[in-house]
Amino acid sequence: MSAIPLCLPDNMTPEQFLNDYWQKKPLLIKQGLPQLIGMFEPEDMLGLALEEEASARLLTQAATKPVDEPQWQLKKSPLSETDFDNLPAQWTVLVQNLEQWSPELGQLWQAFDYIPQWQRDDIMVSYAPKGGSVGKHYDDYDVFLAQGYGSRRWQLGKYCDKNTEFVADEPIRLFDDMGDIIFDEILEAGDVLYVPPKLSHFGVAQDDCLTFSFGCRRPNLMQIIDSLADIATNDSDLFIPLLLPQALQASGALQSESISAIKEQLLHMLQSERGDDIIRQAVSEVVSKRQYDALVPEETLTTDELMQAITEGATLQADYSNRLLYHKHAGELILYANGQRLDGLDTIAKQTLQRLADGEALQADDVADIDPDDLMEWLENGWVWLDYAE
Ligand code: SIN
Ligand code: CO
Repeated sequence: MSAIPLCLPDNMTPEQFLNDYWQKKPLLIKQGLPQLIGMFEPEDMLGLALEEEASARLLTQAATKPVDEPQWQLKKSPLSETDFDNLPAQWTVLVQNLEQWSPELGQLWQAFDYIPQWQRDDIMVSYAPKGGSVGKHYDDYDVFLAQGYGSRRWQLGKYCDKNTEFVADEPIRLFDDMGDIIFDEILEAGDVLYVPPKLSHFGVAQDDCLTFSFGCRRPNLMQIIDSLADIATNDSDLFIPLLLPQALQASGALQSESISAIKEQLLHMLQSERGDDIIRQAVSEVVSKRQYDALVPEETLTTDELMQAITEGATLQADYSNRLLYHKHAGELILYANGQRLDGLDTIAKQTLQRLADGEALQADDVADIDPDDLMEWLENGWVWLDYAE
């Protein structure tokens, strides 16, 4: 399985983390991700922020709040070099979805294998010189804040809710009052801080600093309802008008009894086997969707080159900037990639994709029975990447 050790304190099991901390309490994991040390320099990330296809934001903070103007300025990508001219002392540049630029970094998600792939959002980096921050705020999602370069002081305060008010007229969500500070530590490269949703946090760069946010996600009901509606469009039975009992009523009235009867039939359908099928498909499609568009690869291999690389020891691994997942229903293995069910795969292909989805690095022997053209298609679709490392 994964060669990367789980990011947890030495004496903690994944079960303990999930029961006691996940979505409840923060946790400092000293040297939880030492692989990050030396992986990137600030210049690498500044260069990335300037890429045309990068999803980046440049945030600057005036030393004091000007009258009638926001203190913070936000510029979204595409960013150019001139955006970095004449910056104030405090600024931060953020780049999202780093997995698509660096599959090696993406592989570090395996350190969080106790969180299923479908609940992972993306890896974001923040670069800031000394004093830079993105302000005091909270997020709606769980995040593992991993220090990659330099050091950052993190303070954690109160738990917020939807009534927590943000400073008005600023381009980002931030507030002044974090309540009682419950954590105040400097994270060095390799350290990781888990922050649950709604917990206020404030991180200030102590020197030139790179922080990698391994951010999680969860679907909302609107996404599920939307997907249910799409799937239902293909089900002709659902187009048959409902049969409804009719009581005598004023001709202009729509009685609540009629609405209740329709609701009952809707819930009945959702609770039936057909409903199970539709809901299963809707959830799978939603949670396997990619949040960012895929990059078009600059260079492509031929099938022969791919097979030769595998024969020479390169491994195939799931590419975590894509979403490859499976579920098992009634003895059948059903795979989804990037929001779509994968139909027409034979058993061996399904089992191989399952192993990839579970994070295995596959070698020549593991894929000997797969048609090379299929492997090539998986690579071209971005579901897998080829790791040439020995
Ligand atoms: C940062 O890296 O500065 C911000 C990350 C976060 O607050 O979620
Ligand atoms: Co945050």
